[in-house]
Amino acid sequence: MSLEHHQIKSSFDKAAKQYEEHAVLQKEAMSRLIERVQFDLKKAPKQILDLGCGTGWATKALLEIYPESQIIAADFAESMVNAVPVHPQVTPRVTDAHCLDVHASSLDLVFSNMMIQWCDQQTALTEIKRALKPTGFLHLTSMGEHTLHELKSAWATIDDLPHVNDFMPAAELADLTLRMGYEDVIADSEFITLTYANVVDLMRDLKAIGAHNTDHNRSKGLTSPKVIKQLEAAYQEFRTEDGLYPATYELLYLRALKPADDKGLNLKIKP
Ligand SMILES: C[S@@+](CC[C@H](N)C(=O)[O-])C[C@H]1O[C@@H](n2cnc3c(N)ncnc32)[C@H](O)[C@@H]1O
Repeated sequence: MSLEHHQIKSSFDKAAKQYEEHAVLQKEAMSRLIERVQFDLKKAPKQILDLGCGTGWATKALLEIYPESQIIAADFAESMVNAVPVHPQVTPRVTDAHCLDVHASSLDLVFSNMMIQWCDQQTALTEIKRALKPTGFLHLTSMGEHTLHELKSAWATIDDLPHVNDFMPAAELADLTLRMGYEDVIADSEFITLTYANVVDLMRDLKAIGAHNTDHNRSKGLTSPKVIKQLEAAYQEFRTEDGLYPATYELLYLRALKPADDKGLNLKIKP
C-alpha cells in the first residue's frame, strides 16, 4: 500500500464517528444514485456489493428497496465497517477496492457512492468487473473535475501548492470504463452547491468526512489565521447574495454493464 493510500485509509478510519453528521453531500448523492438504480434495474438484484460503504446508510437504503437481496457492505476502513448496522442479510467486510475479497462473477449490482475518486480507478474498475456477474450492473458516483473550484481558485491566489484534489473528468472516466471492457457506459454530472458561514467551517467539514487533499505535494502544516484571512478575501467574488461561502461539487454518475460474454480488457494494442 502506498503512503498516500495508507493516509486515505487512516483519515477515513478516524472520520467514522463524526462522518454522518458532516456528510451532507454524500447522503444527497446516495439518495440520487439509489433513484437512478431503481429506475435502471428491471429486476431486483440478488447479490449486491455496497463498495466503500462508509457507515452503511446506502446499505440500509438498498435493503429498503430490495428487501430480498443479500448485501456485502465493504470498506477498507475498519471503523467504518464496524458502524454498519447489523442485519441478517448484510455481510460487513473490511476489504480494499484495489484487491476485492469477493468471489469472481458473484454480484448482480455494485453500488458505490463517492468512493472511486480515492482509488486507482483503473484497478478498482477491473476488480469490480471481476466480481460482477456477466450482465451485472455498476452504478457509482464520484467527484468531477470542477469540484470545489471556488476553494481551488482562492488557494491559487496564495500559493502554487495543490490544496484541492484533482478529479477525473466525466468523459475520461467513461472512456476508461469502456477500455476496461464494460459496455452500455453512461457518465454524466450535475452541480450541487453547499454554503457555509465562513471558509473555516467549509474546511472543517472536508476534514470531518475524511476528504482531505491527499496529494503528496500538499502543504502539511495547519492553516494559519493569516492564511485563513487571505483565503476569505480571495473568496469574496464567490460569496452568495446572503453573504455565504459556496462550495460547489460536481457530482459525477457512472453506469456500466459487464458484458454477457466478457472478454477482459478492451485495450487496443498497436502492432
Ligand atoms: C466519502 S466516503 C463515502 C461513504 C459511503 N459510500 C457514503 O455514501 O456515505 C468514501 C468511503 O470509501 C472508502 N474507501 C476509500 N478508498 C477505498 C478503497 N480503496 N477500498 C475500500 N474502501 C475505500 C472510505 O473508507 C470511505 O468510507
